[in-house]
Amino acid sequence: MSTCKGLRMIEFFSGIGGMRFSAERGIQESQETSIETCQAYDISLHANNSYKHNFPNDSVRTKLVEQLKPKDLDGKADLWTMSPPCQPFTTTRGAKSLDSEDKRCNGLKGIMDLLTQILEKPKYIFLENVKGFSGSQMIGEWYKCLKENGYTYKQYLVSPVQIGVPNHRQRYYILCERSDRWNDETIIHQEIKMGKDDVEKHIVGDYIDDSLTAEDRNTFLVPDEILQKDWARQVGVVSKADTATHCFTAGYGRIFHRATGSLLLTRDSEDSVEDNPIDRSNMMEYSGQLRRFTPKELLCLFGFPHSFEFPDSINLEHQYKLIGNSINVNIVALLLKELLVGDVDVVRGSKERLQVGGTKGHVVEEIDGNLMQLYHGYRWKMIPNCTGRHTCRDPAKVSSVAPLEILKEIGIAKKSASEFSESVNDADMELKEYHFELPGRADKIHVIPLDTNNDTGMITFAKEERGAYVHTLNTSSGFRRKLACIGIEVTSNDVRLDENFPHPTS
Ligand SMILES: C[S@@+](CC[C@H](N)C(=O)[O-])C[C@H]1O[C@@H](n2cnc3c(N)ncnc32)[C@H](O)[C@@H]1O
Repeated sequence: MSTCKGLRMIEFFSGIGGMRFSAERGIQESQETSIETCQAYDISLHANNSYKHNFPNDSVRTKLVEQLKPKDLDGKADLWTMSPPCQPFTTTRGAKSLDSEDKRCNGLKGIMDLLTQILEKPKYIFLENVKGFSGSQMIGEWYKCLKENGYTYKQYLVSPVQIGVPNHRQRYYILCERSDRWNDETIIHQEIKMGKDDVEKHIVGDYIDDSLTAEDRNTFLVPDEILQKDWARQVGVVSKADTATHCFTAGYGRIFHRATGSLLLTRDSEDSVEDNPIDRSNMMEYSGQLRRFTPKELLCLFGFPHSFEFPDSINLEHQYKLIGNSINVNIVALLLKELLVGDVDVVRGSKERLQVGGTKGHVVEEIDGNLMQLYHGYRWKMIPNCTGRHTCRDPAKVSSVAPLEILKEIGIAKKSASEFSESVNDADMELKEYHFELPGRADKIHVIPLDTNNDTGMITFAKEERGAYVHTLNTSSGFRRKLACIGIEVTSNDVRLDENFPHPTS
């Protein structure tokens, strides 16, 4: 794990911590940061005991989220994650689908009120739910709340089978960031990028626990009296060679039905059930060969780490229930990686400092003061293999605007030269703009240092013939280095042409 500073996270409706594991994995893979603190809220004692067992250092509270107060949340986290109860949006037979009228929406409604009330809101929010949520009235209220609080978002409807995991679990996900990062908000993306071209397809056998003793196996076997029932012909059956299982739900430990998840056929044949279907006319033929997946196997299929354990106090039925209510960590980790790391290049921030870099050949460094204000004012992307240098991702907005105007627009550039003193705070300093026409270069260069020591700043290339500006934001690893490369010398009180630089003669 990276040694960089971490992310402060709050997990609402936390269950057994699927979001917590996913965030850790999403961030860890990118080597960017780690989880610094996590607060979890859930009303279920079994869920909370399991969470606490696996994350003994996290704060886990047994509380209805609608009973939280603004002070519990204000300024407390960079990321909020949540899987609100899905029953109001479930469309299966027998479900009432009361949508926002269902009292189980009170938790989400409470979170929406709190988001509006608090002053320091999380930069990122991630929500997961069933497909039915995406067409619900409740989502209309959720979109409205996001807009009113300054978020843009990206939506997904995807299933683990799409990333090679042999399990169907199509779920709706919404990635929200408090910025103008996304503008394709009406689209619900149905494909997910893996970061590599070929999806590695797994088979069920990759998740099977071959170390089960005969006694263990008996615990999970489907009893003959079930196989004798007429409805037993309906159950979902897979073998180790299959590439998909039905969605496992909270009822898997109690009810045998394809709607609660698949059963495993442990026959000698190496064929998949898909290629070589079973004979459903007499299910007793499979007596002693059909069993439930164990909780450990399901956790593995759901992407939980091998180290995950339930405390001894949680019986088998509750384990199945908790897993069935949970999320696929593999898929959520990919989405959280996009949200938290993505192409935004920022991982962690506070009011005073922000950490940038760490990928694409950039060193990790902290920025603050005017530079941080500039970073937040517009969207930037790292120039690959050019540490400390970023170009603006909003060219349509800024390419015709002069650099000083850009800074004024976001409240930088305040005092006049006469008020400038040595003890000036970065935020109050007068900005000086230096202009250069370098021999052999068509672009004019504008340089505006953004701190009192001239270590960081904006370098703008003015393309006069097109009337366009290319603005760059430069941290301390990029600012002086870039200017030295083009023959501009920077000291703590001046920015001037380097007389010793071998400028081409025009
Ligand atoms: C879909 S499950 C969440 C699963 C979780 N993401 C995980 O990985 O296990 C919903 C959870 O919300 C909890 N819950 C439901 N309503 C709640 C409320 N109003 N306040 C707090 N927790 C609630 C339930 O106990 C359940 O554990």
